[in-house]
Amino acid sequence: MRIALGSDHAGFRLKDEIAGILREMGHEAIDLGTDSDESVDYPDFAVKVSESILAGEADLGILVCGTGLGMAMAANKVPGIRAAAVSDTFSARAAREHNDANVLCIGARVVGSGLARDIVTSFLGASFQGGRHLRRVEKMKEIEKKYGGAR
Ligand code: RB5
Repeated sequence: MRIALGSDHAGFRLKDEIAGILREMGHEAIDLGTDSDESVDYPDFAVKVSESILAGEADLGILVCGTGLGMAMAANKVPGIRAAAVSDTFSARAAREHNDANVLCIGARVVGSGLARDIVTSFLGASFQGGRHLRRVEKMKEIEKKYGGAR
């Protein structure tokens, strides 16, 4: 799979580790920054990753900030993006199976690199189950349309 990656300064080291993990797993890691500890604003990278998915350049995205929360909030403002801030493997799997999440958000100040690896593996190893979950995802899309989103 083609996975777009983004982080702010708090997440960039873990983001780089995740890029390595993805390549080890045989995925294409598209690193959209940031590249250092220098302070940056997480919404800028949430948008870069979201837009690369919407443009069809990436299949899924992974965003890393301090908590995963700001990244998820920002990415979820982009119509068509379903971003989940996750710190356990059960939720990582459910985010794909139930919510058809297309962006995984991880907090580098919340999880260590071992757990991050398992979270990424769980997320990428799962797929949307459809059925009753499809109805609910469709309802989320209706909310998006009602409040100004277009996709
Ligand atoms: C940066 O200090 C921090 O606020 C950011 O990485 C993130 O945790 C926001 O949600």
